Amino acid sequence: MPAHGLTRRRFLQSSAAFAALSALPACSLVSASRDNGMWEYHLSAEPSTASLVPDHQTDVLAFNGKIPAPTIRCRQGEPVTIHFTNNLNEPTTIHWHGLRIPIEMDGVPFLSQAPIQPGETFTYRFTPPDAGTFWYHPHMNSVVQLGKGLVGTIVVEEASPVVFDEEHVLMLKHWHLNPQGQWKDLAIPRYSARMGTPGEWGTVNGVHQPKYELQENATTRLRLANVDNTLTYPIQVRGADAWIVAIDGNPIATPRRLEEHKIAPGMRLDIGLVAPKAGANVEIMYMKGRFPFLLASFTTTPSTLVEKPLPALPLNPVATPDLANAETRHFVFEWAGAITPADKQGKGKHEFWLMNKRAWEGMSKGNIPEPIATLERGKTYIFDLKNVTQYHHPIHLHGHTFTVLEMDGKPVTPFHTDTVLLGKNGHAKAAFVADNPGRWMYHCHVIEHMKTGLMGFVEVV
Ligand code: C2O
Ligand code: CU
Ligand code: CU
Repeated sequence: MPAHGLTRRRFLQSSAAFAALSALPACSLVSASRDNGMWEYHLSAEPSTASLVPDHQTDVLAFNGKIPAPTIRCRQGEPVTIHFTNNLNEPTTIHWHGLRIPIEMDGVPFLSQAPIQPGETFTYRFTPPDAGTFWYHPHMNSVVQLGKGLVGTIVVEEASPVVFDEEHVLMLKHWHLNPQGQWKDLAIPRYSARMGTPGEWGTVNGVHQPKYELQENATTRLRLANVDNTLTYPIQVRGADAWIVAIDGNPIATPRRLEEHKIAPGMRLDIGLVAPKAGANVEIMYMKGRFPFLLASFTTTPSTLVEKPLPALPLNPVATPDLANAETRHFVFEWAGAITPADKQGKGKHEFWLMNKRAWEGMSKGNIPEPIATLERGKTYIFDLKNVTQYHHPIHLHGHTFTVLEMDGKPVTPFHTDTVLLGKNGHAKAAFVADNPGRWMYHCHVIEHMKTGLMGFVEVV
């Protein structure tokens, strides 16, 4: 473990890197065009096939027909336009997870927009205020739409560019497939009532244990996004000194050494490292109990790069909570195993989870449930989150970014996040300024948990 001085030195802002960036072309854009300062994309959701298990084809739902989905790149403070076409045979909407954008663009059916019907196009336009690693996914029929492949990343570059020699997006997802690439159940009620139904085929960017390359000495930024419906990945890196530089897209004030970090569904982790000498292997490990599982590996190749410190990331412009005048709101997450009587289709509706004694009622046109909390615009709130269950819950709020103050009764160095992971019987305090008016979903990101009760919305008026 290096001394603190070393830590700081390694993260000194490198103005040389800044200069190098301006020489780079607007690079690595996947199907983007940036005209007149405008980032513009065409995105569609459609049935497709993919070879996830080698030598087998799987019917998937995919953005632009491809697994992995295109990474949408744009820049902090610059408008982006995404023309989205629904080529599925069911309605959908697209949500931009972690972005603090106006409610009309949040992509929640009924609450913020009408469902986009098959064949329809809806244009999303927004200007991301924060830089970092975010992601996008439908907010309808989520067990199936996300489970079968509709998950993608959105990378928001810093307003004043921060350059790493190498940057890789790693989307983590386990697919509910058998060894022949055929679908198994995406949600099994007895698991939905517990940790959720895990997929069995582990992939990164849709590939099982992909192998990538890194140039030796490259300052490297790995953008990990957990786009899985269910699994939490405790992450370790082997073969290099790895640093946590951002959590859920949001840079942390002082990077810290990555020993092990849990990325729950919906969450992200940006890792900074300097690639070791050529011929080495850097491995991203999923510390699954006593049986660590290799997610992806990087082989280092010879290069002319000289070793230098990692560039520092500026903090995101999230409003500082006014703790002296904050109001605390309490939320208790409970288990309530129950299957309500069969509905018209003869299917039982499962309600396994409660937020403040309430299970999500579902919504439809003209039928929006009551908010779980009504907040006053501009005011600071402390959300006191209590998990009284044996399972963990990553609690996510749309349209705002939390500043976490306390975890399990202990103060933490405050950090920004859109999702707070509560461990079993975990407790957290997270503050934010309710500065974005609208009705914002507030839910557990274990998709089966949100679908069986752990969901609600807060209204900022
Ligand atoms: Cu990833 Cu309601 O969101
Ligand atoms: Cu979200
Ligand atoms: Cu949960």
